[in-house]
Amino acid sequence: MNKRKILVTSALPYANGSIHLGHLVEYIQTDIWVRFQKMCFPKEDGHEIYFVCADDTHGTPIMLSAEKEGITPEVLIERVHNEHLRDFTGFHIEFDNYYTTHSPETRQYSEDIFTRLKAVDINLITTRSIEQFYDPVKNIFLPDRFIKGECPKCGAKDQYGDNCETCGAAYAPTDLKKPYSAVSSAALVTKTSEHFFFKLSDNRCVKFLQRWTREKNHLQPEAANKMREWLGEAGENKLFDWDISRDAPYFGFEIPDAPGKYFYVWLDAPIGYMGSFKNLCNRRGINFDEFWKKGSKTELYHFIGKDILYFHALFWPAMLEYAGYRTPTRIFAHGFLTINGEKMSKSRGTFITAENYLKQGLNPEWLRYYYAAKLNGTMEDIDFNLDDFTARINSDLVGKYVNIASRTAGFLVNYFDCQMADLSCEDAANILSQKSEEPKIPLTEELLGNASLIRTHLENRRYNLAISEIMTLTGKVNEYWDRQKPWDKAKQIDDATQKHALHMVSSETIECFRILTIFLKPILPKLAQMAEFFLNVEPLRWNDLWNTLPQGHQINAYEHLMTRIDRKKIDALISASK
Ligand code: 2FM
Ligand code: ZN
Repeated sequence: MNKRKILVTSALPYANGSIHLGHLVEYIQTDIWVRFQKMCFPKEDGHEIYFVCADDTHGTPIMLSAEKEGITPEVLIERVHNEHLRDFTGFHIEFDNYYTTHSPETRQYSEDIFTRLKAVDINLITTRSIEQFYDPVKNIFLPDRFIKGECPKCGAKDQYGDNCETCGAAYAPTDLKKPYSAVSSAALVTKTSEHFFFKLSDNRCVKFLQRWTREKNHLQPEAANKMREWLGEAGENKLFDWDISRDAPYFGFEIPDAPGKYFYVWLDAPIGYMGSFKNLCNRRGINFDEFWKKGSKTELYHFIGKDILYFHALFWPAMLEYAGYRTPTRIFAHGFLTINGEKMSKSRGTFITAENYLKQGLNPEWLRYYYAAKLNGTMEDIDFNLDDFTARINSDLVGKYVNIASRTAGFLVNYFDCQMADLSCEDAANILSQKSEEPKIPLTEELLGNASLIRTHLENRRYNLAISEIMTLTGKVNEYWDRQKPWDKAKQIDDATQKHALHMVSSETIECFRILTIFLKPILPKLAQMAEFFLNVEPLRWNDLWNTLPQGHQINAYEHLMTRIDRKKIDALISASK
């Protein structure tokens, strides 16, 4: 069997803000996919699957945030790193490495990639003088988002550099009248300085990207279409060179042989994927080159939000290609999160941080389940509807799935010493379908018959379809139990036939619960772990679907697996987020 070697990343969150429910769409989506792959291709069978991420630590905003707090950027990013890791752990996001871009490894690969791109034979780096707004009080060049002024169209005051909130006009920061610094309020001056550029408009890059973005499913169809708009058709060249340097003072990596010039944060951010992986390789003895050298046979997947497609589908593959590295196998972009149909908002109390969610005592797996029920593998936005959330958790997850274990366990425990019946015995099919309305194939087989469909949905990140299949099956198991009326059989427990039937039906239902647990495990890892304890089995993998619990296998007494959502808790969360 082919051994798979897979490296998966989620986008690196900035090191100056808290993780919120919007971020979690991506980390949960990726974590589910990685856990699913690890269940299908376990390391015990020689497969290697790694999930890495890091904090994105560089740039002017982080430098200014630290200054505002009166601390160094190093102290700030260290603190935020701990907070981010705490939040991810709280939502059962299981990275193989959660690192930082402010690391020797990321510096090494940033310098390496830059140097290779600059080498005479490649010649894809150039320098050019540009004019930019400069804050003469802070003595820094300002990124656009720190520039304010009067709208060039309607004259409204205090507008940001990209569009006017009063008249809606869109413009460049250089169009603003009376531009001033949002940091110091000083009137801005323009100043010229030399910048490094990556020559994305070079014909080689354009041709390469026109091919790369269209072939081998590197991108989802809707992302590939976006690229067509940006790239134009063969023969066209719509790309601009990319400014990859910033002037001191800047929190980042100084460019080799260019004192006072720093790599722009977006240059070293994706290189942070390599840095984080390299750090993992050093600690675990993994072969880095096997994953990153040109022509690598390993798989590389990036999960990102649609807002950063440009960086990942244009700059990043071009950089890698011409610096002599492999390019990504696929890029999976997702949409944004809305809450009750609207953008997250502090005043509405829907700007919900991971920390607040957990502090209010909400179960992280409720959110994992809900997001999974919504994620469909496309770039469409997903809506977190608070009523729908409550209903789905309470009626599907608790009311259907957990319910199977809670209503069945007692029968095995009370009448059969916690032991499973022999589900493979000759008369099993007859006993299990002794009612005329029962189908002739046992229910477990019906569940297993859907395994490959569910697997395909999980593989394709259509978690919504996987959940809907799983819940249909979960409903059937409950209906089966109801039709079999085990409580009636228990009343006739002295009748050997009835007793045997009760044992078979209870065991069959527990076996169904085991199968459903395998299906749900990538989405609900903690709940699955509790279910494994209840079932008294080793950690379940995908292939365990076909390892029926044997006769005499003893389960543990049922202990509560999950509570229902109390709507009051959600209201409290909203109040706490205002
Ligand atoms: O948009 C963001 O939040 C960036 N910090 C993502 C970086 S992803 C990767 F390229 F590092
Ligand atoms: Zn205006």
